[in-house]
Amino acid sequence: MPITVGVIGCGNIAQFHFAGLQQAGARVKWVSDLAEERARPYAERFGARVATDYREMIGDPEVDAIWVLTVSAAHREVCLAAIEAGHAVVCEKTLATNADDALAIVQAAQAKGVVFYTSYMKRFIPAVQKAKELLPSLGRITSIYIRSFQPAGDIWDVMPESGFFHTPPGGASSVISNYGGGALTCCGSHILDLTCHFLGRPHRVYGQMHIPEGRDYDLQANALLETANGPVHYETIWHPLSRIGFLRDGWDERMEINGLNGRLDIYTTWWSEVDTKASLCVHYDNATGVSTEYRYAPVSPFNRAVAFFCENIARGTQGDQSPLTGYDVDELIATITRSARLGQAVDVPWRT
Ligand SMILES: NC(=O)c1ccc[n+]([C@@H]2O[C@H](COP(=O)([O-])OP(=O)(O)OC[C@H]3O[C@@H](n4cnc5c(N)ncnc54)[C@H](O)[C@@H]3O)[C@@H](O)[C@H]2O)c1
Repeated sequence: MPITVGVIGCGNIAQFHFAGLQQAGARVKWVSDLAEERARPYAERFGARVATDYREMIGDPEVDAIWVLTVSAAHREVCLAAIEAGHAVVCEKTLATNADDALAIVQAAQAKGVVFYTSYMKRFIPAVQKAKELLPSLGRITSIYIRSFQPAGDIWDVMPESGFFHTPPGGASSVISNYGGGALTCCGSHILDLTCHFLGRPHRVYGQMHIPEGRDYDLQANALLETANGPVHYETIWHPLSRIGFLRDGWDERMEINGLNGRLDIYTTWWSEVDTKASLCVHYDNATGVSTEYRYAPVSPFNRAVAFFCENIARGTQGDQSPLTGYDVDELIATITRSARLGQAVDVPWRT
């Protein structure tokens, strides 16, 4: 039985979720955006109703689930309203712009007993799924390197005079007002999620961040994350190098997991080009000395994530993705930020 959905927020990321919902056969009944012209094309495609005020769809008894695709700054309000009305919720990452709000959202979902996901779609990249399957074969994990280097042009020496990366004097940049954080939040959140997904929650963190003078956001964040499964060397950055990465397109996001029996290397693709670019997992097995490359044709992890969400929501089950996923990442972002400010390692204050 297909689920009935309301979608809130029709910006950049929405196209991928709508494609996934279409492929999953979901019935989209409502489409909302503050700007009606952004909602209308999707509403027409799905035969859905348009709402410039998302509250029109909240409480509609036909709606099984609400997809929250607004800027992160609006996630708390919209998620809490949807949860309170008893809908299942799928929210884009990051769950909130701070860990307190993320905690409030997941606790509300748990108290209400609704299915709740933060959409970290990189878990659904085929190379990532292959690596997760092969992880136990590595035996004891000794060391992990994970990085998200994302190309952003030359924004280091001179701050752009307008647009996303501009911080007005005394005001907030769009980076902060929309997403709540810079490189650590926008680029690095996915690989914090993959860290938790592969290795479990880190318990101690030593972070560093580079925030240029006159700006309110970081261009780079590094951390040493201690987990029960080995130390994670973590690095995220907006950089000007246009031809690095395994596809030489400037996107350089990868993970290396070393164990006593072998190594896994995982290479992911630009989030907005997942339909056209491949992913790669390389497995080295020390017993045979053989390296095996798993090269995957382009496939949208959004479609796979949305299919997983829809199937579970239809069954009323959470499945094997915890409702805490989004909180875990936001608590790590807060802890790395605090550690960087203090200049010392700190324990992660897990609150649930
Ligand atoms: N998974 C990824 O790789 C990835 C990539 C980009 C963005 N994102 C996330 O997706 C979310 C949206 O980002 P985006 O780039 O699409 O932003 P965007 O600014 O392009 O779109 C957001 C839309 O939400 C609408 N909106 C804001 N508040 C609203 C409200 N109260 N009711 C209805 N509509 C509202 C805005 O009008 C806008 O059209 C963010 O949380 C962001 O972090 C994830």
